[in-house]
Amino acid sequence: MRTQVAIIGAGPAGLLLGQLLFKAGIDNVIVERQTSEYVLGRIRAGVLEQVMVELMDECGVGARMHREGLVHEGIELLFKGARHRIDFPSLTHGKTVMVYGQTEVTRDLMEARAAAGLATVYDVGDTVSLHDFEGTAPKLRYRKDGQSHEIECDFIAGCDGFHGASRASVPKGAIREYEKIYPFGWLGLLADVPPVFHELIYAHTERGFALCSMRSATRSRYYVQVPLEEKVENWSDEAFWNELRRRLDPEARERLVTGPSLEKSIAPLRSFVAEPMRFGRLCLAGDAAHIVPPTGAKGLNLAASDVKYLASGLIEHYRERSSVGLDHYSDRALRRIWKAERFSWWFTMLMHKFPGDFDRKVQEAELDYLVHSNAASTALAENYVGLRL
Ligand code: APR
Ligand code: PHB
Repeated sequence: MRTQVAIIGAGPAGLLLGQLLFKAGIDNVIVERQTSEYVLGRIRAGVLEQVMVELMDECGVGARMHREGLVHEGIELLFKGARHRIDFPSLTHGKTVMVYGQTEVTRDLMEARAAAGLATVYDVGDTVSLHDFEGTAPKLRYRKDGQSHEIECDFIAGCDGFHGASRASVPKGAIREYEKIYPFGWLGLLADVPPVFHELIYAHTERGFALCSMRSATRSRYYVQVPLEEKVENWSDEAFWNELRRRLDPEARERLVTGPSLEKSIAPLRSFVAEPMRFGRLCLAGDAAHIVPPTGAKGLNLAASDVKYLASGLIEHYRERSSVGLDHYSDRALRRIWKAERFSWWFTMLMHKFPGDFDRKVQEAELDYLVHSNAASTALAENYVGLRL
């Protein structure tokens, strides 16, 4: 098989890139480890920056997002038993975010790709290998149904997430990795119950962090900070709901509607960046190159901005025979990535329970300053809605 761009990974980054390249008339193939059902079964975050909303529209897949997505104009910070609202439009000249599950984003992109008859090879397992990407004729090899396959291409896009084959294929001396592991996890629960509030509530409490989020007016997503060694099997639904209640203010506690969990899992928190993001004809995008703690809801949005930069570089290569966009891809993407890494790290360090009373008192002072200073609230709001590309 021959294509112009071979994409590894059918998550949001790979599917978005495939759609943008297709719209620009650039041939591409996606090779995915899992089945499409498995990919759609993943529960991930659900807050889209304007950049991501515009990218979905540019890909021609924004209709359901606009129909079913929820436009949010603010978030609430809960600390010392009281809630304080951060209003986005007044602090960011009218910007908002869109609450629309990543699962739905992935579904919309998958359906558009299938409708366009584009080549997506699912369920190849861990058989993908990358070859000759330091030259000008890279190749992908993979196995499926007992058969070996090779894809000759001009470029390989490594959109295969944190545990993928792409970054692992780069010679150790050619890549630098920066990492911070947080000493706790997020126990998350998804349930078909109405959200406790129409906007997200980020709670800083003596028992630890909690987040009240949602997927729609009838489906809610909740998280509580738990120690790293916690096991999800130790948490019944009832135990989760009781712990969440203990981290809410009286009004939210009163309004909370509970129900059986559709999904319950514990995710560790990590900050990670690999530099650079381009190695000859291999470019990394999305979680393959960086990870953020979910506190700032930046993971999906960073994948989107990487893909926007990468797609424009590839389109420029084919349309104008210019390598300027690709030559600047890594530096350009990393400038935005590190700002989102900083924001996600800052918000995580501010909202979570760490050992030591001094740190807690400093967190409470910063929260008090944050909600009473227009400058500090603006800094939070403009990072949350997304910095410009
Ligand atoms: N071969 C082929 N596909 C692979 C391989 C491999 N060796 N390894 C991983 N994959 C696939 C995964 O199965 C997954 O479907 O690559 C895809 C990577 O998708 P994501 O992990 O979702 O990463 P990305 O597309 O960059 O999206 C980032 O997803 O995980 C969330 O929080 C993250 O919101 C962020 C978003
Ligand atoms: C979610 O809805 O899953 C979610 C929302 C906001 C976050 C993290 C997760 O910061």
